[in-house]
Amino acid sequence: MHKSYPVVHPFTWMPPSGTLTTDTWLGQVTCLERGDGSWVYDTQGKAYLYTTTAVPTVGLSNWRVIQAMKEQMERLSFASTCAQTHGLVEPLADKLLRLCGSRYAKVFFTNDGSGAVETAMRLIRQHFISRGEAKRDKFISFDGSFHGTTYGSGSVTHLGIREMFGRGLEDCLCAPAPNLYRPPGGVSSPEGAADFCLKELERLIEEAGPETIAAVLVEPIQAVNGVVLMPESFFSQVRTLTRQYGIAVISDEVTTGLGRTGHWSLSEKYGLEPDVLAVSKGLTGGYFPMGAVLMSGELDDSLFGSGGILLHGSTQCGHPVGCAAALEVLEIIERDGLPDHAAVRGQGILDDFADALADHPHVGDIRGMGLMLALEFVKDKATKEPVDFEWGRRLSGHLHDEGILGNYFNGILLMYPPLNVSGEECDFLVHGVTRALRRMG
Ligand SMILES: Cc1ncc(COP(=O)(O)O)c(C=O)c1O
Repeated sequence: MHKSYPVVHPFTWMPPSGTLTTDTWLGQVTCLERGDGSWVYDTQGKAYLYTTTAVPTVGLSNWRVIQAMKEQMERLSFASTCAQTHGLVEPLADKLLRLCGSRYAKVFFTNDGSGAVETAMRLIRQHFISRGEAKRDKFISFDGSFHGTTYGSGSVTHLGIREMFGRGLEDCLCAPAPNLYRPPGGVSSPEGAADFCLKELERLIEEAGPETIAAVLVEPIQAVNGVVLMPESFFSQVRTLTRQYGIAVISDEVTTGLGRTGHWSLSEKYGLEPDVLAVSKGLTGGYFPMGAVLMSGELDDSLFGSGGILLHGSTQCGHPVGCAAALEVLEIIERDGLPDHAAVRGQGILDDFADALADHPHVGDIRGMGLMLALEFVKDKATKEPVDFEWGRRLSGHLHDEGILGNYFNGILLMYPPLNVSGEECDFLVHGVTRALRRMG
């Protein structure tokens, strides 16, 4: 008698319930048992270099982080931050404010990345309502963006997910993104792509009525959509345009933030000057589910300058064990200079991929920044027609055999090694992926 499998997994095709047993399920997914540094091991003891999700920044089973969490767990395993506090929220907020640039004044903690984006959207709505601009209730985000899975953050996600749930928040508009590999508008230069998209953004704002737009949401590098890079100049141009119309900017650095791209915050480097910055994955590096939003001094003034209340949050946000994990993870990233390390390692991997794969008939693009890396596969390099589902399924199998766990999605392989990945581990990744691709012919 086979036991039927009782779990529904996120973003995962579930086979028909009548046929799904624990045995069949475990036969088709990797079941992990333990992790150590950049490596995870399945129930058969097979090792994989863990490059999925962009969450682990200091690797798995880091004893310093575990020790800090254990001590906190023993001292105070839970404390609400709703009209109470504990000793770690303030130092963690101070650290984030110091690391992410001088424009932010306050921090609000959430339980994940979606919650951070949702909070950012609410902060902006409250801000405009309190200023008598309640009509500003529309959000604009870019084609291909992934901002999360809650009702609001899912409504500004333009990646074909919303369609499964019917109507989301009304009036969430979609602007074209200056994707450097697949630029819209028939232009080929980065400047041309930025120019086209900026004009389209302005047209959208004008058409919708500038006085009705609350915020533009930006992912400085689109993560889930395939590590999509955009021209650097685009971001300050978006800021100038939005300022002209009194529109706020939310920067979603849930994936890019806190060291992964070689910078603590790409918004800071790109001159995006957001009103709210959302971070999550690198905050605790996977040791605890957590996110945060940082709000600008101006927004803080507007919402709390004369005292105020945010009627939003979750029972467990600002959890002391999560704060202990985050403080230790950020300490390690800072002390060990991991953003710089990520920049150097990432460039090395890109160079090695270019040497090994430039002539591969199906490798259309090799791209990334820091340790956000992607290979985009095409049937034909001239037409850029994407590879089909079966091609990707076979490649995923070969990568699995090579001991590499990455995210394969829509013809793009995403690789996010931990920020402290070693040179040997980078070689393992490049050689393993190259061998897997050579086997594809
Ligand atoms: C840019 C971005 N925003 C938001 C999210 C949602 O974060 P979470 O999965 O923690 O809810 C993600 C997740 O991949 C993301 O990449």
